[in-house]
Amino acid sequence: MAVVAVIGGQWGDEGKGKIIDLLASRAKVVVRFSGGDNAGHTVINPHGEFKLHLVPAGIFYPGTTCIIGNGVVVNPAVLLKEIDELQSHGINVSNLCVSDCAHLIMPYHILMDRLEEERRGKGALGTTLRGVGPAFTDKVARIGIRAGDLLSKDVLLAGLKATLEFKNVILTKVYGHPPLVLEEIFEQYCQYGERLSPFIKETNSILHEALSKKELVLLEGAQGALLDLDFGTYPYVTSSSPLAGGGCTGAGIGPMEFSRTIGVFKVYSTRVGAGPLVTELKEEVGELIREKAHEYGTTTGRPRRCGWFDAVAGRLSVQVNGLSDIALTHLDIYDGFPSIKICIAYKLGDKVLDSFPSSVATLEKCQPVYEELPGWEESTDQVLKYDQLPLEARNYMARLEELLSCPVSLVTVGPSREEAIEVRPILP
Ligand code: GDP
Ligand code: IMO
Ligand code: MG
Repeated sequence: MAVVAVIGGQWGDEGKGKIIDLLASRAKVVVRFSGGDNAGHTVINPHGEFKLHLVPAGIFYPGTTCIIGNGVVVNPAVLLKEIDELQSHGINVSNLCVSDCAHLIMPYHILMDRLEEERRGKGALGTTLRGVGPAFTDKVARIGIRAGDLLSKDVLLAGLKATLEFKNVILTKVYGHPPLVLEEIFEQYCQYGERLSPFIKETNSILHEALSKKELVLLEGAQGALLDLDFGTYPYVTSSSPLAGGGCTGAGIGPMEFSRTIGVFKVYSTRVGAGPLVTELKEEVGELIREKAHEYGTTTGRPRRCGWFDAVAGRLSVQVNGLSDIALTHLDIYDGFPSIKICIAYKLGDKVLDSFPSSVATLEKCQPVYEELPGWEESTDQVLKYDQLPLEARNYMARLEELLSCPVSLVTVGPSREEAIEVRPILP
């Protein structure tokens, strides 16, 4: 056993939470390594239905330690609410830890996320307004407040004082917003610190003890490869790396420890927020997918934009993550579709592109080149074995494998834990 990363292969919301909940029964440790509460991971299992924003989806197994890693930005209020909700459903959270190196989302981050989106006007990115981008900005600018700072009131006060002084200049002089009050924020974060102190610790030793014992460690990705700060549709991206490489830095694991990197993909594409989506279906079919799959944001409730599967974007995702396997979700949504399209290339003027352009200006001019495959009539949501899937569904999967040069090792046919079919062994 070793490290298995579970990564969003598209624009997020592929079903990572469900896959982690399924695989975590065998894991000693699950680590969230990037993003913040912009993520919304749905888990439907015998305990109920949960929308997790920060707590790793391994929390339902008492023997699995769940770490919110150093690469995550944590809003303490959101985390405490999530802990309370889990506990109210009888879930034991004593196996949850927060890395003392994880940065905190502060009230000025949330405020500035909104003020910046308002300033961008028509060019707004469509962020989740959770303060995630501004918190990562401060981390890189070396003026962030970390979870470990909550353990000492003196350290917290000193850090907050220095940063808030500067933030208030920006708030008042740039945005014309009233300043925030140091004492109020300090008081509130001291209270968070009191409640969160049992969870905040140095998590490196827990993780590396599991690795030294050859236990299974799962890395739970957030967002998706096309929202990556470097390789995504910049600037319509998130502010951390959702890639497998982000798992190394966001959890503190060397690349040689990885034995599998699983990319989670939907059978179609969705995107929430602004930015290009070459295969977007603005009419009937897009609407049909949205309603059938209830494609509304887990975090913000916004309708997700829907489109056919984009193999050009998918190939980039396989490359930049070094994917070994694909977990393909939402196969059941295509039940009853007479035919299904896959985008195999982009047309740009009279040129045909088969690799994903790095520029949004170019992407906006691209037209999809489609291949059409026959659909299937039968319902797949009760199917438990690969051989029992309709031939057309198996052919569709085989074509995706071919186009992405990566095997589909798991396919899911419904939202709950048991609605999954292992095509080949997915864990080492
Ligand atoms: P995540 O952010 O990648 O964890 O995904 P989300 O939870 O935001 O969105 C995925 C949605 O699809 C959730 O509502 C899941 O319950 C649902 N889901 C996951 N897998 C399947 C599947 O195979 N079929 C169907 N119909 N729904 C699924
Ligand atoms: P999970 O983990 C889908 C999108 C936002 C916006 C862009 C930047 O559930 O797959 P941000 O708030 O991060 O600054 O917003 O990124 N976004 C997501 N879209 N799923 C997510 O997470 C997302 N996290 C951020 O909608 O377009
Ligand atoms: Mg989500």
